[in-house]
Amino acid sequence: MSEFKRHLVTAALPYANGPLHIGHLTGAYLPADVYVRFMRLMDKEIAFICGSDEHGAAITMRAMKEGKTPAEIIDTYHDLFKKTFEGIGIAFDHYGRTSDPQHHQCSQDFFRTLYTKGIFEERESEQYFDEKTGQFLADRYIKGTCPKCGYDAAYGDQCEKCGSSLSPTELIEPRSVLSGEKPVFKKTTHWYLPLNKDESWLREFLENGILEGALHHDPSSWKNHVLGQCKSWIDNGLQPRAMTRDLDWGVDVPQEIPGSTGKKLYVWMDAPIGYISATQQWAEKQGLDWRNYWMDTETELVHFIGKDNIVFHCIIFPALLKAHGEFILPSNVPANQFLNLEDQKISTSRNWAIWVHEYLEDLPGQQDALRYYLVKNMPEQKDSEFTWKGFQDAYNNELVNNLSNFVHRVLVLTHKYYDGHVPDFDPDAYFSGVAPDDMGGFHETEYLWLFDKLDELNNYWRAYDFRSALKCLMEICTAGNQLLQLNEPWKNQKEDPEMVEAVMNLALHYVVVISVAMHPFLPFASDKLRKILNLEPLRKGDLLALMDQMAEGELLLKSGHKIQPAEYLFSKIEDEIIRKQIDKLHQTLENQSTAQSNNYLPQKAEISYDDFSKMDIRTARILEAEAVPKADKLLRLKLDLGYEQRIVVSGIAEHFKPEDIIGYDVLVLANLAPRTIRGIESRGMILMAENGEGKLSFVSPSKNWPAGYTVK
Ligand code: 2FM
Ligand code: ZN
Repeated sequence: MSEFKRHLVTAALPYANGPLHIGHLTGAYLPADVYVRFMRLMDKEIAFICGSDEHGAAITMRAMKEGKTPAEIIDTYHDLFKKTFEGIGIAFDHYGRTSDPQHHQCSQDFFRTLYTKGIFEERESEQYFDEKTGQFLADRYIKGTCPKCGYDAAYGDQCEKCGSSLSPTELIEPRSVLSGEKPVFKKTTHWYLPLNKDESWLREFLENGILEGALHHDPSSWKNHVLGQCKSWIDNGLQPRAMTRDLDWGVDVPQEIPGSTGKKLYVWMDAPIGYISATQQWAEKQGLDWRNYWMDTETELVHFIGKDNIVFHCIIFPALLKAHGEFILPSNVPANQFLNLEDQKISTSRNWAIWVHEYLEDLPGQQDALRYYLVKNMPEQKDSEFTWKGFQDAYNNELVNNLSNFVHRVLVLTHKYYDGHVPDFDPDAYFSGVAPDDMGGFHETEYLWLFDKLDELNNYWRAYDFRSALKCLMEICTAGNQLLQLNEPWKNQKEDPEMVEAVMNLALHYVVVISVAMHPFLPFASDKLRKILNLEPLRKGDLLALMDQMAEGELLLKSGHKIQPAEYLFSKIEDEIIRKQIDKLHQTLENQSTAQSNNYLPQKAEISYDDFSKMDIRTARILEAEAVPKADKLLRLKLDLGYEQRIVVSGIAEHFKPEDIIGYDVLVLANLAPRTIRGIESRGMILMAENGEGKLSFVSPSKNWPAGYTVK
């Protein structure tokens, strides 16, 4: 990694339309946080930027579902995000939001520059329009039958059943999510980014790391799956992409641009600009010039994202930045793959997730435990798995039995033998090059090993290999335990107190190194350990300083330094707690069928009272019921309406056996025009309630009334 003057690290702006789950955390925020914490400890100038993504259909759909305004939705989740990130220890330098007027201004300026430079192509196209509500329909606002699998509630951009990506025009029998009506095509004009013109430089930039003839980054430092995805996009041919939408929620296209009325910026244009606007806000507060972070080639720009965001960060946003002309491009986009949960895909809609804010409530004080397990299983190269059992095992075997026990033993023995003071150790003798035997047989080699391990760890996080970096940390703890196990201070203290002093001095060095190296992964426990060690809280540059000290052979603790009473950093997590979490998750699964039944159909278009009052709905009783020959779905029912009896043919045969429903009280639409079905004249229609799974239930009066009463 070449040395940059400064670093700008961004983590994907989460949509403010629902809480954060562990997949979000391990996808983008945790790796970014670990990386940044290391960078700070290595004394790098760095800005860590994020914020809420508050535009787009993700927000307006949620608002519609909850019967709230988009503003209410974004406020709720923006506040929840801030609390959640803080709770789990994601230490952004700035957390902004795209509804901020300053962000609107920044995005409009960006758009204006591209417009003025003549970058955009203005194009007319036909798009689905809902005549009832007078709105163009974003892809998510159109539902219909999936042409690939026949699922009847596929969205205009994707079928959630078979996972196919779709375009709205592919849907069979499309309907507007807003009104339930069939949408019509209507002409509209938008501004397109001609990505087709960017293919060749993007390929050179991504595959070879070359930008405008100069080496921009080492492509071997990029993850294979990221490059693979980009290559496949480019190989398939890039198409011009509309940067505007017909919407009423988002950043306005600048007013002075002809035809801007009613047009908003495409959310995937304004969201990444959110990184820029948030940097501006941060820099202003710091008294710094934001341009240094975005317009100076001596800045390293790194985007942490999940794999579903790769194309936007590796193709579209770089194309926008380059078209603008003044911006640097990312040096790396170390996207992660997906995390599965207990063998299933995490799913927000099915509530199959561990929500981070709930974890913080259910397991208070256990932030580091989650961070640990999520880094240990981070989907860095391929999808990975979270299981509660795995969480418990990793916690008890690694954090408790290895890390915490080692630290605790050292602290306890230091109190027992030296009244909490760091025992003497003579560095001159230690580094004089005398045979290791003179040092008690282990000291010098162990100290050098410790340094090498830190160096190894350092190389791993620089390569975005946080799993291996964490493994290094745990290897230091294992070696620390072995140090005690092999030299058995508890047996040798009486006979060979000098040797035990050397062992304990070295063991305390291990603990100091651990207190620093654990910080990016386990910041809460690291803070606690620093306090127990009576050392300053960690500051910028402390890992670098520690490594420099070690390289010089300096000791890290003065003899006689007094430590605080011993405490455990982690204590065993009981089965009961884990069982509760597993139950909670499976409760979700059991509730799924109910949740699916709550898959409400959109409300139909408004009608007047007059429309309603034309319907004559009556209570009725089923007197007879029989199957209609050669019609699987139909039953012939004889109904008593009090004032008369009549025949109604009803499509309920797949739901009810004729013999079971005789005597049922039902509601019937009595003045429906007669229809002849399978040769039988049907006079009226039975009213049924239908759940999200298509199951039917009769609707009856709650009182045991005679037939013939009216329903209003
Ligand atoms: O996928 C998402 O959650 C998007 N809101 C990410 C946006 S990242 C950036 F472009 F802002
Ligand atoms: Zn499908």
